[in-house]
Amino acid sequence: MAKVLIIYYSRSGHTKSMAECVERGVKSQGVEVETKAVDDVKLEELLEVDGIIVGSPTYYGTMSAEIKKLFDDSVKYHGKLEGKVGAAFSSSGGLAGGNETTIMDILKAMLIHGMIIQGDPQKDHYGPVSVGEPDKRSEGTCERLGERVAQLVKGICKE
Ligand SMILES: Cc1cc2nc3c(=O)[nH]c(=O)nc-3n(C[C@H](O)[C@H](O)[C@H](O)COP(=O)(O)O)c2cc1C
Repeated sequence: MAKVLIIYYSRSGHTKSMAECVERGVKSQGVEVETKAVDDVKLEELLEVDGIIVGSPTYYGTMSAEIKKLFDDSVKYHGKLEGKVGAAFSSSGGLAGGNETTIMDILKAMLIHGMIIQGDPQKDHYGPVSVGEPDKRSEGTCERLGERVAQLVKGICKE
């Protein structure tokens, strides 16, 4: 059965709330999902799933050091994550505070791993963002991301 892992870092809970909404979206599509704080993730878990969704607060326009460390450590499996589905989301303090650049930095690392990234032509194009605690709009885009990743993973796992 297809499986998605949602990994997040969150100090004041905003990114964690987003992760919970993303999880709801994945579950709604009947795909197995686990949501973990980055400190609880064992590197080898990355190998065991079909989709990896990463959420980070925006810190100086990029991902938190904890999330960056996960990617730096993942060099151990360079080449082995190829073909897995990837996606990202971020919570920032300000409207133009760098949440999209944070998402793009996470997606860049995923692309270097050879992962498959799907954009969104309608809602948050690169991945869901929130300013502080997610509001109804952000909750919706997070659920939508979970649904879309789950659908993509199911399509890929069919073969
Ligand atoms: C070290 C640090 C750097 C930050 N840098 C930014 C930033 O560049 N732009 C921004 O909009 N918010 C910035 N923030 C605010 C956080 O992104 C924001 O409070 C976010 O909602 C926190 O998410 P969390 O509740 O999941 O920890 C920063 C916060 C910290 C602690």
